[in-house]
Amino acid sequence: MKKNIVLIGFMGCGKTSVGGKLSRAFHCGFLDTDQLLEEEFGCTIREFFGREGEEEFRKRETGLIKRFSGTLENTVLATGGGLPLRAENVEILKEIGVVFWLKASEEMTVARLCEDTSRPLLAQGNLAEKVHRLLGERMPVYQAAADHIIETDGKSFYEIIKEIETVMRCCGNA
Ligand code: S3P
Repeated sequence: MKKNIVLIGFMGCGKTSVGGKLSRAFHCGFLDTDQLLEEEFGCTIREFFGREGEEEFRKRETGLIKRFSGTLENTVLATGGGLPLRAENVEILKEIGVVFWLKASEEMTVARLCEDTSRPLLAQGNLAEKVHRLLGERMPVYQAAADHIIETDGKSFYEIIKEIETVMRCCGNA
């Protein structure tokens, strides 16, 4: 792979699952910012949010991806859903690789997250209302950050991966 692949998108859109499968298809490495941060923190993201707050978490996300800029090669990087909220982070992600937004509808997102207890931003209140508000705020952010948009609703992992492969080949990046 000539350029790294960066996956962005809302919580529950499948960045970690697609990223892992994509890395096997491309025979390349796979990293996930949430997993790396949990290792660094020595606790879950939910615990870290509770102890240090969201602002500190965002700082740590930026610190992590800064380390990848200019050093990461042959890797699929899955990112936390809020990472592109900082303009600075978007610049860094674009330096790291080709940015794909895994886009999922509000309905699909709610259906995927309804059993989830790991995401601090969705922990309290009505899930559908929260997803509606956050997605509304974030759609333009993902849109602006993405080099390519992959609509994921109704598609299998296989179809999503094929689409990303096709884009990478067409752009001469595979
Ligand atoms: C967040 C998304 C989560 C995680 C944290 C905050 C967000 O990652 O980074 O809970 O602000 O959207 P996933 O998108 O992998 O769930």
